[in-house]
Amino acid sequence: MKTIQLNNGIVIPTPGLGTYRLGRNDREVIHAVRNALDAGYRHIDTASFYDNEYPIGKAIAESRVPREELFVTTKLWGTDILKNGIEQAFEESMLKLDIGYIDLYLVHWPVTGQVAATWRKMEQIYESGRVRAIGVSNHLTHHLEELLSVAAVVPAVNQVELHPYLVMQGLQDYCREKDIVVESWSPLGSSKIPLLADPLLLEIGQRHSRSTAQVILRWNLQKGLLPLPKSSDAKRQKENIALFDFSLSGEEISLIDRLDKGERTGVHPDEIEF
Ligand SMILES: NC(=O)c1ccc[n+]([C@@H]2O[C@H](COP(=O)([O-])OP(=O)(O)OC[C@H]3O[C@@H](n4cnc5c(N)ncnc54)[C@H](OP(=O)(O)O)[C@@H]3O)[C@@H](O)[C@H]2O)c1
Repeated sequence: MKTIQLNNGIVIPTPGLGTYRLGRNDREVIHAVRNALDAGYRHIDTASFYDNEYPIGKAIAESRVPREELFVTTKLWGTDILKNGIEQAFEESMLKLDIGYIDLYLVHWPVTGQVAATWRKMEQIYESGRVRAIGVSNHLTHHLEELLSVAAVVPAVNQVELHPYLVMQGLQDYCREKDIVVESWSPLGSSKIPLLADPLLLEIGQRHSRSTAQVILRWNLQKGLLPLPKSSDAKRQKENIALFDFSLSGEEISLIDRLDKGERTGVHPDEIEF
């Protein structure tokens, strides 16, 4: 597994394992995470919203992988910002995961009118030493501008929907300029759009004897993005990290960039409601 250095000096393994809907119950989640750890994944992406922090923590505890070799991200949900309290939500994630500390804590979605105040609370959690890095998710350039106008700590990461049909190049460029690593959620288009059957991606895959998923994930790596593919299947989990023995040409990267059509599988960050 390769790593990327975050703006506070810590390193994050890439790719990470997406865990939204990883299993129908705790047993299936534990099984899928154990398989992923055995396959070599060292970065797990969860969120309080996914309701799987407990089985993920359990899978980690049952595995033989030392805690310090793992990187675990979880996220703060919007209703916790508005109603239940940020510190309490963080404590609940800590309790459920029960892994000593969280590597990366993200604001899951920007809550209108709360972006700056939320970030100040995130900074306090960071300063308390219970997380190794803090960041955001689903923040567009205007959200980041609002946040950075009050920030003492620059977010280490912005996790956004990003795949060849939604390239977000302007946001990528802005984040690079601010030293914020961009993570790609739904990098394979989830199962909602036929991205994996795209003719150009299939053709490039054939040229390299690779699957379409591998082409997309390799495109992420070469663009400096950190993809978070989700798979519950041991074979596809392995496929999604077998990315380091081939590379795409500059022309192939540009051709894939040009597939962009601004197509989302999820909610637009300006339209989320809590
Ligand atoms: N921050 C946010 O707001 C946010 C939002 C959504 C997602 N996320 C994160 O991003 C992660 C990934 O997004 P996602 O789960 O929506 O979608 P995804 O990773 O783009 O796609 C997952 C789908 O692709 C299938 N798949 C995986 N590998 C494959 C392969 N090699 N070949 C063919 N099919 C493959 C999976 O099926 P199998 O499982 O059967 O293999 C599943 O149906 C999430 O799990 C979550 O951690 C974050």
